[in-house]
Amino acid sequence: MRKTTRRAAAMLPLVMAVGALLAGGAAAQEFGDVKAGRDLARTVCAECHGVGRTSMVSPHPDAPTFRRIAAVPGMTAIAIRVILNTPHRQMPDIILTSDEVRDVAAYILTLKERD
Ligand code: HEC
Repeated sequence: MRKTTRRAAAMLPLVMAVGALLAGGAAAQEFGDVKAGRDLARTVCAECHGVGRTSMVSPHPDAPTFRRIAAVPGMTAIAIRVILNTPHRQMPDIILTSDEVRDVAAYILTLKERD
């Protein structure tokens, strides 16, 4: 019994370090700032895409809504980043910083329907 307690105590700093990492900057950097991404979507992407949670149609007839993009099976932040870093036939070359790309990707993924 005493041995188990001591081992748990020894692991505590590790658990706390991982927790701090997840709660703090590292996680935010990896997953992007959803609110900033939403603002960006509304100002830059909404010209062509339906970007809202309830948007069913896009202003540009060929542009999928962000809801639809989010619903594509297997759509991940990385996939969205790749899409945004690849020139599109009909999408103008919108110059985004890598932070902006990460933020907007994070926002799009919040539109995924939960199952
Ligand atoms: C001038 C119009 C226009 C703007 C502005 C625009 N898009 Fe698009 N986007 C399109 C069109 C049209 C398509 C579909 C055809 C294509 O893939 O080129 C598309 C496709 C996409 C796709 C899916 C591509 C795929 O392969 O499925 C993503 C993701 C996307 N846009 C994200 C964005 C984001 C994020 C922004 C804002 C930073 C944005 N778009 C701004 C017109 C636009």
